[in-house]
Amino acid sequence: MDTMEAIRVRHSVRQYSGRPIPEDIRLELERIIEERNKEDGFSHVQMIYGDPTCFDSFIAHYGKFDGVQNYIALVARKQEGAMERLGYIGEELVLTAQKMGLNTCWVAGSFNRRACKAKLEPDQKLYAVIAIGYGMTRGKASKSKDFDAVSKTRRQEAADWYIRGVEAALLAPTAMNQQKFVFEQAKEKARLSTRLGFFTKLDKGIVRYHFEAASGHEVESQ
Ligand SMILES: Cc1cc2nc3c(=O)[nH]c(=O)nc-3n(C[C@H](O)[C@H](O)[C@H](O)COP(=O)(O)O)c2cc1C
Repeated sequence: MDTMEAIRVRHSVRQYSGRPIPEDIRLELERIIEERNKEDGFSHVQMIYGDPTCFDSFIAHYGKFDGVQNYIALVARKQEGAMERLGYIGEELVLTAQKMGLNTCWVAGSFNRRACKAKLEPDQKLYAVIAIGYGMTRGKASKSKDFDAVSKTRRQEAADWYIRGVEAALLAPTAMNQQKFVFEQAKEKARLSTRLGFFTKLDKGIVRYHFEAASGHEVESQ
């Protein structure tokens, strides 16, 4: 499966079987994490395996999570740009996991933050987690906004690469499926801004990853 296929078939999955993640997949995810953490010098993303407690709370069950044993802890130093960067790294991991047959769900609200096993330095923060494992289902497609609702550039005036990018961004996960992002074509690049909402900075990094992967063109974050 390539990245485009992974973008198309990915849906949030909240119920997991107990099947452990094989060693080769773990190593590949950890390799990417190590590289990305090193690249920016402020991210401290971590994989946690075999820990049911992070999703073992009233709010997690209320949020319909079940059987979550593994998660990616999105930790970074508290600083400008940290959330967008974590969104970007996290979505690379989500799509990599999807390609290798795993399922995922981004979670910024409905998990037990205090029980989370991530290691934090005093100047770092746990921004969100991503549940990961073999899903009981593959999830289902969510309702999506139209192209023109998330693009200042009209479809008929846009380049093909830009249309591919926006369409891939429309398939990206966003907090509460809010899709509060706006793209605009600017010559050979795209500009991206977000409207007011919850966790929109994480969303911004996530949709930027989808856009760049699908279009091969750079996104300038505004
Ligand atoms: C930043 C972010 C935070 C999220 N937080 C939660 C959460 O706390 N609880 C939950 O059940 N789903 C959460 N989600 C999953 C979204 O609800 C889901 O991505 C959205 O409804 C679209 O569905 P899809 O991922 O299947 O396309 C979150 C997603 C993102 C991107």
